[in-house]
Amino acid sequence: DWTPDSFIETTVAELKEKIGEDRVILGLSGGVDSTVAAMLLHRAIGKNLTCIFVDNGLLRKNEFSDVLENYKELGLNVIGVDAGDLFLSRLAGIEDPEKKRKIIGATFVDVFDEESRKVKDAKWLGQGTIYPDVIESSSVNGPSQTIKSHHNVGGLPDYMKLKVVEPLRLLFKDEVRRVGKSLGLADKFLKRHPFPGPGLAIRILGEITKEKVRLLQEADHIYITMLQEEGLYDKVWQAGTILLPIKSVGVMGDERTYESVVALRAVESTDGMTADWCHLPYEFLAKVSNKIINNVRGINRVVYDISSKPPATIEWE
Ligand code: XMP
Repeated sequence: DWTPDSFIETTVAELKEKIGEDRVILGLSGGVDSTVAAMLLHRAIGKNLTCIFVDNGLLRKNEFSDVLENYKELGLNVIGVDAGDLFLSRLAGIEDPEKKRKIIGATFVDVFDEESRKVKDAKWLGQGTIYPDVIESSSVNGPSQTIKSHHNVGGLPDYMKLKVVEPLRLLFKDEVRRVGKSLGLADKFLKRHPFPGPGLAIRILGEITKEKVRLLQEADHIYITMLQEEGLYDKVWQAGTILLPIKSVGVMGDERTYESVVALRAVESTDGMTADWCHLPYEFLAKVSNKIINNVRGINRVVYDISSKPPATIEWE
């Protein structure tokens, strides 16, 4: 019978056997898969695992420093790379969603490649690939930011010469979570909502600027924090905030305002392939709306997305 503990025991033994004294590099994303893969490798080979966690400047508010801190608490040997300005400069002026994804994917490869060269004599690339990634064509959700979907980026980066090790290759998501729990991983990792690899880039419709990222991070932080405080976060499969490319008129005191609009999104789903919009309580939505408009200068209107997938998608881009 499959149990998380027996899986951990066999996998750690197999990893030790396979890798021996070699060095391994692995890209962490903040998500549960790469984190559990890293923990298994860490158990097997300890300091010979080096993890790389890239800040693309498109993460949620405080996400990079919070998650980096959590990784360090887990005892992982992790290099945090602040590459936000590089990503944002390459994205300047780009409006097309697929172009954004391609640029982010290619930039991630460049950053990862440069960092991985610093890890001398690495022989293996660890990845958090899970079974659905193996069987599914990755085109369904668009190219993800994980390394696996980047094979089509021209000119093979150095790390592609590495042998690949994927300890979660045969597991489904719920099994990964159970393994993570057995390894002592905290709920903040295990219950984290899915977050797209291109991050806030595909939640800022149209052109991306540093100021728009900041505005969206503030609004999103209010929304997500309130979902947590009201005990709604764990009932929702995924939630996020979208910055729309329009302005609308409002009034503050005696002043007419002409500012941005954000849409709140929350969906129920089991796999992201189909999704229903969540019937969040009106009182809750009212509170979030007020708090965003009163606290985030530059946003004067909040709307709620009541579209399901299909025919809409979870993300707006
Ligand atoms: P859609 O918008 O296609 O999203 O209904 C389904 C799920 O996939 C996530 N998503 C992505 N994840 N790279 C990713 O790693 C992407 O380019 C991407 N696009 C969408 C989305 O957040 C949802 O969980």
